[in-house]
Amino acid sequence: MERVTTSSQQSPGSGISAALAWANRIGARIPLVNAPMGGVAGGRLAAAVTAAGGLGMIGMGSAGSVRALEQELPHLRGVTGPFGIGLVDWVVAGQPGLLEAAIEARPALISVSFGDDLGWAARVADAGIVPATQVYSGPDARRAQDAGIGVLVARGVQGGGHGAVNAPLLPLLDEVLAVASVPVLAAGGIGAPRELAVVLRAGASGGWLGTCLAACSESLLPEAGRRALLAASGADTVLTRAYDVGMELPWPTRFPARVLRTGFTDRWTGREDELAADSAARHALTAALDANDPAVTPIDAGEGVGLVTVVEPVAHVLGRLWSGVVDPGAG
Ligand SMILES: Cc1cc2nc3c(=O)[nH]c(=O)nc-3n(C[C@H](O)[C@H](O)[C@H](O)COP(=O)(O)O)c2cc1C
Repeated sequence: MERVTTSSQQSPGSGISAALAWANRIGARIPLVNAPMGGVAGGRLAAAVTAAGGLGMIGMGSAGSVRALEQELPHLRGVTGPFGIGLVDWVVAGQPGLLEAAIEARPALISVSFGDDLGWAARVADAGIVPATQVYSGPDARRAQDAGIGVLVARGVQGGGHGAVNAPLLPLLDEVLAVASVPVLAAGGIGAPRELAVVLRAGASGGWLGTCLAACSESLLPEAGRRALLAASGADTVLTRAYDVGMELPWPTRFPARVLRTGFTDRWTGREDELAADSAARHALTAALDANDPAVTPIDAGEGVGLVTVVEPVAHVLGRLWSGVVDPGAG
């Protein structure tokens, strides 16, 4: 697999050298982490990120289970460098043994997001693994680090997938950095070198990248989803709870998802209570999803999706991002 150059080590800017120091502490060569995207970031994508010098994360989303995790882990075998596992709080609660299986896999980092009880963090830290979680405000960040979280992910509202609706990335990052005593990664809409450079100079220890890697050749995304990402721009995304309600998934209401607009989101966004009471509409959604109807299938995507225009290997995306930060004049 291709590896990404770390030529910045010769002449890093201050934000960049601090980020590189964090990357090195966790065993990576560049401060880039892929977001643990359920149904997208499997072992192949994680392995490609790690092989390129970053920290590759396996994402166990709504459909996470011990078995699903065991299917993805073998991709990391033989790959030199650290990896992580990302879990969803309510999925961990409903899947006995999932957190334990993640700990037993000996990753460098485990994230559990979308929950209020951070009791898991101490168990992860006791195993010598860095606990991480996504936060959306200064008070969130303080609570998380008080609970023993070792890496905060400041996740701006422009990000893809689920997240609380609070602030765009830059003001949020400022708010989180003001209270943080642990490393902070920046997430939400990062897809170009200039954006990455800005968050590193602002004090982020790295980038947590979702949408810009979702269409990569190593992702688990089916072909139709990949095509939809390539064709979309940020204006084609919408924040909605319609799919969670339609699919009867127990996502907390404070975490809507940013997805590509579909006829289904046009019809039901803002009318989720009606959808909850309309079993025929929910059954119709289930039938369309079972038939893999691309016009209805939900695709998580952030506002940076317009930057995703080709299917390419992870190493190309990370290489372009990182070399654009350390050597902005080139290319
Ligand atoms: C396709 C996709 C799936 C996602 N699934 C998860 C998930 O399972 N668990 C999680 O913690 N975050 C998930 N996220 C959210 C990311 O952790 C992160 O907040 C987001 O990708 C950052 O914004 P960006 O997509 O603009 O880079 C997902 C994001 C995307 C795009």
